[in-house]
Amino acid sequence: MGEVKRIGVLTGGGDAPGLNPAIKGLVYRASEHGIEVVGLYDGWRSLLDPLNETLPLDRGKVRRWDRDGGTNLGSSRTNPFRTLNREGERVDRSSEVLANIEKLKLDALVVCGGEDTLGVAARLSEKGVAVVGIPKTIDKDLACKDYTLGFDTALRNVTEVIERSRTPAGSHGWVQVIEVMGRHAGHLALWSGVAGQADLILIPEHPFRYEKIYQHLRERLGDTIGYPRDSARPRYSVIVVAEGAAAEDGELITVDDRHDAFGHARLGGIGEVLARRIMSETPYDARSAMLGHPQRGGTPSPIDRIMGLMFGSYAADAVAAN
Ligand code: F6P
Repeated sequence: MGEVKRIGVLTGGGDAPGLNPAIKGLVYRASEHGIEVVGLYDGWRSLLDPLNETLPLDRGKVRRWDRDGGTNLGSSRTNPFRTLNREGERVDRSSEVLANIEKLKLDALVVCGGEDTLGVAARLSEKGVAVVGIPKTIDKDLACKDYTLGFDTALRNVTEVIERSRTPAGSHGWVQVIEVMGRHAGHLALWSGVAGQADLILIPEHPFRYEKIYQHLRERLGDTIGYPRDSARPRYSVIVVAEGAAAEDGELITVDDRHDAFGHARLGGIGEVLARRIMSETPYDARSAMLGHPQRGGTPSPIDRIMGLMFGSYAADAVAAN
């Protein structure tokens, strides 16, 4: 690789707090190396864009980005190796990406993403593209990484909901099931469940048995929640269930039967299934809450700001060092 003059930065996959701080760190440090940075819109979709629209980034432009959640560049789940064409077939359009990288005069890419976005980056690097990856996902499920951007903020968000679910559950006397994202990884459910001191935490890594859950509830709550009134027993239970958790003899619950360009189904619904089964198979009342996308919403936590700034700044150094 010759001297690097211009970096393209993109953010792909599910948005996560910490991405904008990473871009700020990248732009600030790159400016010290005399390297120009341009923002590419909506993940890999940008490099299939026939109009080649980009956003020039300098210190003034990104000065306030450290406090912004989501991604100011936009995101998508585009897979250039499996993109839908007009006929509805999935085709390999990676050669267009390579051509656009040339056309935009990008000497290197900084790619912020999870397993899918960085998987595309790895395949492009095999084709000769200079790439630095910044790990990002609230799922914290990237191999060989201690940290992924977005996890800490999502942990904060979910823990807050667990905390707030106690008062309705305790006042009414029911079992509150809280369904947490994470796809096939239980990190977010486990950490938030421990931080929020949930009564029970169900994660994909350990298939569960309904009978054991019921037995646990019986031991905690007695035969009827809240009776006798002066009993020292808790009047409620909070169960955190990861969206990818499944019973030993059960299947993964998905929102529908569609799959994205990377072959993923959208997980969701196990919380409601569990709450209904508790209501029909035990004496207890139950409610479920599926936290959904707001889990990854809001301003980045201090950890995600610091990690983002550091990842961005190191990415600029890595590019400058070829
Ligand atoms: O990978 C991040 C994540 O939030 C997962 O936890 C979740 O399963 C998935 O994205 C949801 O996908 P989408 O954002 O496409 O609805």
